[in-house]
Amino acid sequence: MNKIILTGDRPTGRLHLGHYVSTLKRRVTLQNSGQYDKVLIMIADAQALTDNFDNPEKIRQSIIEVALDYLSVGLDPSISTLLIQSQIPELTELTFYYMNLVNTARLYRNPTVKAEMQPKHFEANLPAGFLCYPISQAADITAFKATTVPVGEDQLPMIEQTREIVRKFNSIYKDILVEPEALLPQKKVCRRLPGTDGTAKMSKSLGNCIYLADTPDEIRKKVMGMFTDPLHIQVSDPGHIEGNTVFTYLDAFCEDRHFAQYLPDYACLGELKAHYQRGGLGDVKFKKFLNEILQEELEPVRKRRAIYEKDISAVYEILKSGSEQARAIAAETLDEVKDAMKINYFADTALIESHRHKYEDETPA
Ligand code: TRP
Repeated sequence: MNKIILTGDRPTGRLHLGHYVSTLKRRVTLQNSGQYDKVLIMIADAQALTDNFDNPEKIRQSIIEVALDYLSVGLDPSISTLLIQSQIPELTELTFYYMNLVNTARLYRNPTVKAEMQPKHFEANLPAGFLCYPISQAADITAFKATTVPVGEDQLPMIEQTREIVRKFNSIYKDILVEPEALLPQKKVCRRLPGTDGTAKMSKSLGNCIYLADTPDEIRKKVMGMFTDPLHIQVSDPGHIEGNTVFTYLDAFCEDRHFAQYLPDYACLGELKAHYQRGGLGDVKFKKFLNEILQEELEPVRKRRAIYEKDISAVYEILKSGSEQARAIAAETLDEVKDAMKINYFADTALIESHRHKYEDETPA
């Protein structure tokens, strides 16, 4: 069986460090591993519209931002197919057929959807499209017969929902869809990077993100303002590591080689943490260290972005040709799905023949 990757993001703004550690960086490694027959990366605009339907302008403006972020982290359009979800109508068609395979109680139970619904206070005004987006995500994944979906932890319920749909489809109609596996970040800390203010998640609305496209100065200011340990008042006080955002980011980004380069007084993160816990280590020192590491990580990203920013038409061309290639694949799967459901009437010679037999042969001339 072919090994196929499909994953994607909603275009609601620029991508940030949370996206980077939980999936973007890994996608590039997987892309370059040569172990996959196909890599498809989707800008999920139709999904973004399920809770931004009244603000299509925001989605429209964000597509290029996400595309630039993809290209700037090193996704290579000569290896990976970059596509825009709404340009593949076959996905919508698949969604409609899959809707029959999922009951509404199951949709209300989806933990990610539940968490997203809470702050919006939809109550009785919950848009059906929003409730059903996990089904559309199952269409995204299965249309390309993806085997592997590299995502952050919050997407696990979507993959589980997809697997249920696949099993149900295959058992009712015909065994043609592929059950995908989620691929989570190897390091636990990368699965959900907290915001710079220490809250559980980076989120645009909370203003606690470091964006991939941030300038060196913006990055430095955000790092120097990060949440650490409110109980660590004097330098000499013992500090806490747990819930200390700077240490969480160091867990995610720091390697031993960084010490030799930027903080040679310590050999490894364990030593730095021990000093902080003992007392006598000031916040500024390890914030500066984190800043050095992030600057090193994001500089090549920013440079690649600057190159693509100079030729925006070419970026749209990449998305257009990627969407066309993807559409051809999705159309094949949809055709198989319709065959399995026996609704490809005009190609169904057995059906036409049996009706011909039933009527024409029995109707006296
Ligand atoms: N739900 C994903 C997000 O919020 C985006 C997405 C849409 C996706 N379709 C997908 C991710 C298919 C993986 C596979 O970021």
